Amino acid sequence: MSSYRIAPSILSADFARLGEEVRNVVAAGADIIHFDVMDNHYVPNLTIGPLVCEAIRPHVQVPIDVHLMVKPVDRIIPDFAKAGANIISFHPEASEHIDRTLALIRDQGCKAGLVFNPATPLHHLDHVLDKLDLILIMSVNPGFGGQSFISEALKKISTVRQLIDASGRDIMLEVDGGVKVENIAEIAKAGADTFVAGSAIFGKPDYKAVINAMRSQLATV
Ligand code: DX5
Ligand code: ZN
Repeated sequence: MSSYRIAPSILSADFARLGEEVRNVVAAGADIIHFDVMDNHYVPNLTIGPLVCEAIRPHVQVPIDVHLMVKPVDRIIPDFAKAGANIISFHPEASEHIDRTLALIRDQGCKAGLVFNPATPLHHLDHVLDKLDLILIMSVNPGFGGQSFISEALKKISTVRQLIDASGRDIMLEVDGGVKVENIAEIAKAGADTFVAGSAIFGKPDYKAVINAMRSQLATV
């Protein structure tokens, strides 16, 4: 299936050479750049903000997928839109008014996504499917790269796949955490179409070899 998308997470890139890293990973076949924003409040880690998004924007043509692990979320959304983000997703626990935050993202000209932690129930989707362009299922607890895939996420992915298909809407189903060559086919079988991978790609010397190996696995699904 050619509609699978590989989204390397720059969390595991060399931050001292970020422009070069994103150019290299796109040249190696990445479809999307996944951009992890952590605030040392919603999650116990601190990463990068709109200034860094703006800095990498001229280096790549592919969409920048901003994953906000911050609380509160609303104030920072226009800043990321101005910095060139194409997709902005947030965690329901981090917004007082989920519907309003989703509308704000689209008003800023970006695609909007909701992110579900391993223990976050899916009922937050019940009344907002029409405002969503992406659903992101976390297969690790957010905050760090290099953690192991929590296999319980596969059931959740299947459930969300059924929801999306039943809705007839064009909504991406993304998975984030512990995705690697060895498990990507199983995750795709469960119904995901967009795969975030940080350490599995940036942790290896040859990005193209990893992305090609992922695509070979996806071709078996
Ligand atoms: C974790 C981040 C992920 C992280 C994934 O909170 O949202 O995007 O970079 O890293 P890996 O692929 O190494 O599990
Ligand atoms: Zn992420």
